[in-house]
Amino acid sequence: MTQTITVIRGDGIGPEIMDATLHVLDAMNVGLSYEFADAGLVALEKHGELLPAATMDSIRKNRIALKSPLTTPVGEGFSSINVELRKRFDLYANVRPAKSFPNTKSRFPSGVDLITVRENTEGAYIGEGQTLSEDGETAMLTQKITRRGSERIVRYAFDLARKTGRKKVTVVHKANILKSTSGLFLKTAREVAQQYPDIQCNEMIVDNTCMQLVMRPEQFDIIVTTNLFGDIISDLCAGLVGGLGLAPGANIGTDAAIFEAVHGSAPDIAGKGIANPCALLLGAAQMLDHLGQPEKATKLREAIIATLEAKDSLTPDLGGEGNTMSFAKAIASRAIA
Ligand code: NAI
Ligand code: MG
Repeated sequence: MTQTITVIRGDGIGPEIMDATLHVLDAMNVGLSYEFADAGLVALEKHGELLPAATMDSIRKNRIALKSPLTTPVGEGFSSINVELRKRFDLYANVRPAKSFPNTKSRFPSGVDLITVRENTEGAYIGEGQTLSEDGETAMLTQKITRRGSERIVRYAFDLARKTGRKKVTVVHKANILKSTSGLFLKTAREVAQQYPDIQCNEMIVDNTCMQLVMRPEQFDIIVTTNLFGDIISDLCAGLVGGLGLAPGANIGTDAAIFEAVHGSAPDIAGKGIANPCALLLGAAQMLDHLGQPEKATKLREAIIATLEAKDSLTPDLGGEGNTMSFAKAIASRAIA
């Protein structure tokens, strides 16, 4: 059976890495058909809005989207499209794997294999209640944490541990200082953890977590945390294993899920055909897992690793002389071997 997904080719390097990714998926025969929809700068130019209703309808109908980076124009009146998508579809779980890959100039070419599960809909990050006093001297922000929001993200993390055979969930917080908000998150996490006696649960304060991640990242398995901490920690984790060119992310809700690369539209290299397609390919692998095709997902990840190991057609950010499409073709040939 063919499943239709919404494909957003995006801005900057977006179309280049999406073409490369679809080339690999097509070669692998994963049984997907694509409904293309616009968002971002390209949508603003073509349809007069950043997030057209037709795009929303497409995602609502197909429930799965593969999305390239979008450029959010700088200036008044433009809020982040990514934040908007998360809000409109209640994509509460932001799932970001960070895994050591060979030949990536990374600090940890082996030993790191962790997933950050970030709450995606509440906390300071969403910028609720932002005010600046008339004299410009005092700024305020509301930080809302709910039991419901905390419970569903922690449950997601523990269920993910079970599903993927992982053994440990680390709850990252700052409840010693932020007693009400982070305190409620931690208290709820402890309650949920009791329902998963088969999974080890430990707690770590966020600043210590950052130090531990840099010194001994191999101790982490799944990290679950609130929105802003998760934003920062997941980028830190991407940095441990070779940077943004290799970091995928999934935004998962009950009714829809959007899979993407963590990096942006990279205007500095757009149009040159040299962008690294790996982050979006790894996002596509997360999508295949989500669609119940774990064998294909594993095959795709293994093909990426083998291509990195062979230093076959690597893009310049990885020190190679390949380009986006030659790299993708090298991956595709291994994925179908
Ligand atoms: P960026 O991630 O686009 O670029 C940062 C640096 O990393 C640049 O030097 C770029 O060339 C490099 N880079 C990024 N992806 C790469 C890839 N696949 N291969 C090789 N090199 C790569 O971040 P920046 O410059 O801060 O943002 C540019 C635009 O992207 C902004 O308009 C921003 O709003 C948007 N953005 C969109 C995101 C999304 O849609 N998920 C996420 C982050 C930023
Ligand atoms: Mg971020």
